[in-house]
Amino acid sequence: MDRFQIQGGQALRGTVRISGAKNAALPILCAGLLTDEPLVLHNVPPLRDVSTMRRLLEGMGMTCHRHAQSSDGQETLTLQANNVSRLEAPYEMVKTMRASVLVLGPLLARFGEALVSLPGGCAIGQRPVDQHIKGLTAMGAQIEIDHGYIKARAGRLKGARISTDMVTVTGTENLMMAACLADGVTVIENAACEPEIIDLATMLQSMGAQIQGLGTDRLTIHGVDRLHGAHHTIMPDRIEAGTFLCALMATGGELLAQGARADQMGATLDKLREAGLDWQESEEGIFARADGRPRSVNARTAPYPGFATDMQAQIMAVNTIAQGTGLVAETIFENRFMHVQEMRRLGAQIEIDGHTAVVKGVGRLTGARVMATDLRASAGLVIAGLVAEGTTDIDRIYHLDRGYDRMEEKLVGLGAHVTRMSS
Ligand code: EPU
Repeated sequence: MDRFQIQGGQALRGTVRISGAKNAALPILCAGLLTDEPLVLHNVPPLRDVSTMRRLLEGMGMTCHRHAQSSDGQETLTLQANNVSRLEAPYEMVKTMRASVLVLGPLLARFGEALVSLPGGCAIGQRPVDQHIKGLTAMGAQIEIDHGYIKARAGRLKGARISTDMVTVTGTENLMMAACLADGVTVIENAACEPEIIDLATMLQSMGAQIQGLGTDRLTIHGVDRLHGAHHTIMPDRIEAGTFLCALMATGGELLAQGARADQMGATLDKLREAGLDWQESEEGIFARADGRPRSVNARTAPYPGFATDMQAQIMAVNTIAQGTGLVAETIFENRFMHVQEMRRLGAQIEIDGHTAVVKGVGRLTGARVMATDLRASAGLVIAGLVAEGTTDIDRIYHLDRGYDRMEEKLVGLGAHVTRMSS
């Protein structure tokens, strides 16, 4: 199992190219199931979750042709689902990646049948998929849970008015994809508004889907008989960009997050400005400069456009070495503070009070051996390691590889001392 060894204390300087967004790429790959024509996707990030999704789709009979990588490592993929025969997401795949549940809506809408392993809980929370099931049932699907599998059948899905009990990102994506091929009009109320949903919807529109209300919490979808092929470029990863900017805030220095878009990162950029980051957007991306110790900030996670739960561990890492005390409240997932005990091993002073972490900034962190527990927790630990004095070893870095494209290479390019060690 690989680990990162970080010698902390270097300011970050240079340009980092932001990759395509994981959480846009995953649903977009699944949307390939909605048509028998080729879908050409550019700026696909070479991540472990993306290869897992490809394997899942190929297992169903989809062809995924990978073109040569561009000079910045991003891939172009051509998908074609004209020979899909296995309408199943098996347990072995779903247990390694919950986003596999995103095949449910497309399979049901196009083939009238799907067998998808029920995702279990994961490190950050229980994460049920009851809203996906509720919405598809409202569209006329017959769904039962049998031996741990979601067994779904339908004739042609029917448009319906669906109001989800909470804002759910993949739930909105699954229902939106299904509604594109349904008979009649579907209205999704309380829809998630994340930029990744707009990216998916934009691609669905170029495949011929009729979707209105993008970026709002009310999506109206007029079902069509068929969708056609399209070309699409995946949006930049706003969480990757935010992670590098938090790292910069912690270490000091200046960097260009090339390709990052400020309009998709409002809450993160507001918090970082409050912490003392000086940033500007240009045609190339976001240029930022950090000087001196950050100021502590309070952050409360919320659905977009609120502060992203996927940035919570990273802003906490900034607070660990900031001036003053910052409160970080997690409202989306019930168990997303696993990084706290690891940050404490580096000398951070953090107390947990229910869903809130009270982070008292300290003058310095000191290197130690710590363990990554999930993707964003790992990113928070990397930031803490970059600022800690001495050596920090982060075990189980495979979590990071699921969602960050060659993070150590990008950090080394910015002057950090990070080595991947195989043990
Ligand atoms: N929820 C339910 N029932 C449902 C669906 C969701 O109770 O049917 C609850 C969840 O348990 C959670 C809340 O609703 O408490 C929101 O969950 P959501 O469904 O929005 O999360 P998700 O779609 O499973 C996506 C991202 C996550 C990100 C969350 C929140 C993808 C592939 N994953 O997950 O990304 O944290 O939205 O923004 O888009 C990550 O990239 O590290 C990651 C975990």
